[in-house]
Amino acid sequence: MKKLFLLSSFFILISCKKESEESFGKPTESNTEVKAPEALGKELFEGKGNCVACHKVDQKIIGPSIQDIAKVYKTENGNIVDFLKNDAKPLVDPSQYEVMKTNFAITKTMSDEELKGLETYIFSFSK
Ligand code: HEC
Repeated sequence: MKKLFLLSSFFILISCKKESEESFGKPTESNTEVKAPEALGKELFEGKGNCVACHKVDQKIIGPSIQDIAKVYKTENGNIVDFLKNDAKPLVDPSQYEVMKTNFAITKTMSDEELKGLETYIFSFSK
């Protein structure tokens, strides 16, 4: 019995130590705000936003490639955040705008920070 008690207190000690180590240096849990905009954008593009379903980096599938979008927005000095809020006209392929429009249901639920992340991520391909 004593052995068991020692053993369990040993495990409690270990788990306490682990917890304090893990939370060290992290402001809060699951906080997307601490991410760099580009990393946040990538995560949304491939995850919650499911943008990858229609946008590949260097190849047009259903939607234009990310590189093409970045190029057009760079040269025309466009604002992707405004576009995703449905506050700006399409610049890349207006003939297919109806298809893209369905995604505003998702992007309109995103915070400015998340939209900025998406924009930063897309612009990272214009180099
Ligand atoms: C169902 C397919 C589909 C999905 C999913 C999709 N898009 Fe698109 N997207 C398109 C099509 C088609 C176009 C071309 C029409 C256009 O330019 O508006 C487009 C165009 C765009 C453009 C250029 C708009 C312009 O000015 O012409 C941006 C920026 C964009 N998408 C971002 C996104 C982001 C961010 C997501 C994820 C939240 C996303 N798309 C998800 C199909 C899609």
